[in-house]
Amino acid sequence: MQVLILTDAARLSNHAAGQIAAQLRAQPGSVLGLATGATMAPVYARLIAAHRAGLSFARMTSFNLDEYVGLGPHDPGSYHRQMRDMLFAQCDADPARCHLPRGDAPDPEAEANRYEAAIAAAGGVDLQVLGLGQNGHIGFNEPPADPGSRSRVVTLAATTRAANRRHFPAAQPVPRRAITMGIATILSARHCLLLATGAAKAQAVAAMLQGPVTPDCPASALRRHPRVTVLLDPPAASALRPPGQSAAPPAA
Ligand code: GLP
Repeated sequence: MQVLILTDAARLSNHAAGQIAAQLRAQPGSVLGLATGATMAPVYARLIAAHRAGLSFARMTSFNLDEYVGLGPHDPGSYHRQMRDMLFAQCDADPARCHLPRGDAPDPEAEANRYEAAIAAAGGVDLQVLGLGQNGHIGFNEPPADPGSRSRVVTLAATTRAANRRHFPAAQPVPRRAITMGIATILSARHCLLLATGAAKAQAVAAMLQGPVTPDCPASALRRHPRVTVLLDPPAASALRPPGQSAAPPAA
């Protein structure tokens, strides 16, 4: 696992966008795993700038991590809508190859199974981008998260619903359930790139990197993956112990 602490969130976004762009330049037909959330917004803004300077998304296939159950693709709170606004509609990505689970599917469990099969049929994910929940979730895999889990329907933690309230119009309730790629789905990607910025993520970052590998911190499962890059800004890295320092002070 490679952990990089960048000098600030702007440089972190540049670095992440640079890695995604490099992947697409090296392999224009890459399968990308994409994430939503505030951390990703400046990364997508930089990718749109790169597109205007010549980067093409035309041959990319993408699979997003998750979607809220009950929301159709045009719902203002949906991740379909977020992705369209942040990236897809502003570049030459082929909408037919930009996938998210359908939150409005009549049978959400069947939709999750279909989604998992579609990822496999595309040959798996080359580069999976991840944000980090304040409770250590990746995608919407809330703690405790089974490390063997595949795409499925999950119930959102109250803290997650509160954290994501800001992405919804005031009158719209935050959904209680979501379809998410599972932990094993995420770990099947050939390279994972996790981004965390801000002090609100500091405890989750410390648990992910320095706590036990446990379902109670879903992101800690990434430590079992052979190729993970973690990008942090200084506030997100602020709860990490210096190398060599143990978790608890020695008993007196
Ligand atoms: C949401 C998403 C995650 C995302 C996380 C962090 O719950 N399901 O995939 O990584 O929140 O979001 P933010 O970047 O807004 O803090």
